[in-house]
Amino acid sequence: MITLVGISGSLRQQSYNSALLKAAADAAAEGIRIEIHSIADIPLYNGDVEKQQFPESVLPLKTAIQQAQGLILATPEYNHGVPGVLKNTIDWLSRPNPKDVFFQLPVALMGASMGGFGTQVAQHEWQAVLKALKTRVWHEQDILVSRAQEKFSDNGQLNDPELTRQLTQFVSGFSEFCRTQGKRGA
Ligand code: FNR
Repeated sequence: MITLVGISGSLRQQSYNSALLKAAADAAAEGIRIEIHSIADIPLYNGDVEKQQFPESVLPLKTAIQQAQGLILATPEYNHGVPGVLKNTIDWLSRPNPKDVFFQLPVALMGASMGGFGTQVAQHEWQAVLKALKTRVWHEQDILVSRAQEKFSDNGQLNDPELTRQLTQFVSGFSEFCRTQGKRGA
């Protein structure tokens, strides 16, 4: 069994990125589990708070990633950059020592936007962050969902068979990468 942690970088109830992650979890083949974690309770990073008491809300996510074989980030794109709430979460997870969570961790990126480029710029920006953290980013397949409002129904159901097929392939391909390249390969 391969366990992957999935994080959506949007806090919106009707987020397309959260819906995309859920669709990926639903499309996962047998033997692969995507455990979706919310980042809604993660506070803004503050070095003074870190010194006083590390936030309780960050710890379960930290442990979950440490125990998983890989991490999937579903990222929105804000003003041609990474979304602050997700970057803030990654910053907390990198404290006090980024190696504890991220060293050689397999990571895959996916993203959905309402525009025409499907979070391409944000995903490119994430590369620099994930390199700094010494993760192993999987590059074999892109999930760049443009005009997401045409692919998901109002209740977050994915209505695009081709994208469903791509998600199954993506999750299987990334899981195989975790198995063979990750330090926690099963
Ligand atoms: C956006 N959006 C957006 N889309 C895009 O393709 N490129 C961009 O640079 C931006 N910039 C941007 C900035 C801000 C502040 C917001 C709130 C939105 C639109 C974005 O794709 C859309 O809101 C998505 O629905 C966000 O993802 P979720 O919340 O649906 O997961």
